[in-house]
Amino acid sequence: MQRRIFVTRELPERGLDIIKERFNAEVWSDYAPPPKKLVIEKVAKVDALATLLSDRIDAEVFDAAPNLKIVSQFAVGFDNIDVKEATKRGIYVTNTPGILTNTTADYAWALLMAAARRVAEADKYVRDKKWKVGWHPAMLQGRDIFGATLGIIGLGRIGAAIAKRAKGFNMKILYYDVVRRPEVEEELGIMFRELMAILKESDFITVNVPLLKSTHHLINEERLKQMKKTAILINNARGPVIDEKALYKALKEGWIAGAGLDVFEQEPTPATNPLLTLDNIVVAPHISSSSFETRSKMAEMVAENLVSFLEGKTPPNLVNKDVVNVRKPGFE
Ligand code: GLV
Repeated sequence: MQRRIFVTRELPERGLDIIKERFNAEVWSDYAPPPKKLVIEKVAKVDALATLLSDRIDAEVFDAAPNLKIVSQFAVGFDNIDVKEATKRGIYVTNTPGILTNTTADYAWALLMAAARRVAEADKYVRDKKWKVGWHPAMLQGRDIFGATLGIIGLGRIGAAIAKRAKGFNMKILYYDVVRRPEVEEELGIMFRELMAILKESDFITVNVPLLKSTHHLINEERLKQMKKTAILINNARGPVIDEKALYKALKEGWIAGAGLDVFEQEPTPATNPLLTLDNIVVAPHISSSSFETRSKMAEMVAENLVSFLEGKTPPNLVNKDVVNVRKPGFE
């Protein structure tokens, strides 16, 4: 008898095919996420779940899922899952690290370049028929990237990949992290600084930390006030790492020059979000890992984690490593 799984969205083909071959799968086919009430209904009968970061998987869900043994997340971040609760109950949680590093770093750079050189504003300028004179020295001036100072807050895989790209722009690269990474410092020729120094010295700052209690509103009013008036802030990690109300004030009142955001405190961000009224910000709907190639590989990784578990093996991308002390991998 095949094990049952609820897949909370249509995953890219190959990964979903593998899941369908090996499991008795029910797939939520709407574009929008399944309501939590429905997830709670579905988990009553399943052995496994494949989730997205927009699904809140917490004690309430686990309480309704007597047979649930594994949650395979289609993302590297897993702040939507109560991992502590899962571990307590012997439920394995897996994610998709590594595979999306370069694609996500590329997008941080896309936002950085778009914000620095006002790409979205320029596009709108032409389409809105504001381009009435051929050329003007003051038209849509931006900020130079080449030779500027980049401050990376959070030097994990993605932070390091962003640094690598900055080498090609001959940037001075600074980083802050709770752990120092001497081997990466040496390999990439980058320098550690305390957070305050990063804020004060950088022309561009990218935020690349996971969302934890300690990183919630890491960038707040006080810290935004430390930044250069010409600085540009990029976030494609998690929205709540930046206090959006403070960021609005900073952009509106000119404490900093611009921002590029792929993530928001609430997603989707409401159309009434005051940030969206500003010209000096470029925004995207949380799509940093969204390339055809990467999304497809992420789905295969979701399947691979599930199949390993099905075969009684520890899944390759296990988040809650301690869970092996609570129960052995496998559905038996
Ligand atoms: C996307 O934000 C991810 O965590 O993979």
